[in-house]
Amino acid sequence: MVESQTFSGQHRPPHSPSESVIRLIDVTKSFGEVDVLKGISFDVSTDSSAVIMGGSGSGKSVLIRSIVKLVTIDSGEVWIRGERVDVLDGHDLDRVRLGIGFLFQGGALFDSMTIAENMDFILHRHSDLDFADRRLRVEEILSWVDIVDKIDQYPSELSGGQKKRAALARALVLEPEIMIYDEPTTGLDPVSVRTVSELIVRLRDEQNITSLTITHDLECARIIADKVHFLYDGRILESGTLHELQRSGLPELRNFFGTSRF
Ligand SMILES: Nc1ncnc2c1ncn2[C@@H]1O[C@H](COP(=O)(O)OP(=O)(O)OP(=O)(O)O)[C@@H](O)[C@H]1O
Ligand SMILES: [Mg+2]
Repeated sequence: MVESQTFSGQHRPPHSPSESVIRLIDVTKSFGEVDVLKGISFDVSTDSSAVIMGGSGSGKSVLIRSIVKLVTIDSGEVWIRGERVDVLDGHDLDRVRLGIGFLFQGGALFDSMTIAENMDFILHRHSDLDFADRRLRVEEILSWVDIVDKIDQYPSELSGGQKKRAALARALVLEPEIMIYDEPTTGLDPVSVRTVSELIVRLRDEQNITSLTITHDLECARIIADKVHFLYDGRILESGTLHELQRSGLPELRNFFGTSRF
């Protein structure tokens, strides 16, 4: 168990290895007649990188949005670091959300703001830092994701991979202990897929950030996943390492992974 440092040099207290950071118990969610989540239970343990895979429309985004109550679940329980979140509201919910960095599908940055402004906007609102210290934090994080030279540019001036890294930097600006990524590598070339995936691994290893990632990308899953949960028909059909899931005899998994067995 290694004590880690945040970007601003603060020490993160080490966690017990058995601690569950995210825990879902029998979560259900329907939209009208459509039962999207039919009883989802799983744990993400501390300092690990868990991945959710599953077909398009299987409920992956709904599932991870329900973790931070962007979707209100119908039944079940959501726990984050020993605190039940699905029953929280107001300030308590805000406090929990501020400890979680969320990289949304599509990763939208504000086009009318520079990369620095995109990040400072959050820091200004949620920290006591003065402008100089905020700028320092922004520079540190952009250096870490290796795009500090883009600090005063607009999103439209960045490549797809650089935009993803900028969106990642923005999600990291409040130094979260948990990161949730919805398709972090979609639309990227193979080199950028590797770069972004390796950043996710470094966040786990160097900053003790626990993560939950949705991805369709086998290369991304291969690099980042300690454990994969396969979502099918509203349930977790199988959990294990990527290798175990790829070797599963279940027809749904064989169908999903096709013939690739790398
Ligand atoms: N706000 C909503 N209102 C009604 N239906 C919704 C809502 N959000 C999601 N759904 C439905 O829930 C199902 C699951 O959607 P979700 O976005 O979670 O899929 P997904 O697994 O993330 O797919 P993809 O891989 O394409 O991103 C879909 O049938 C979708 O239409
Ligand atoms: Mg989705």
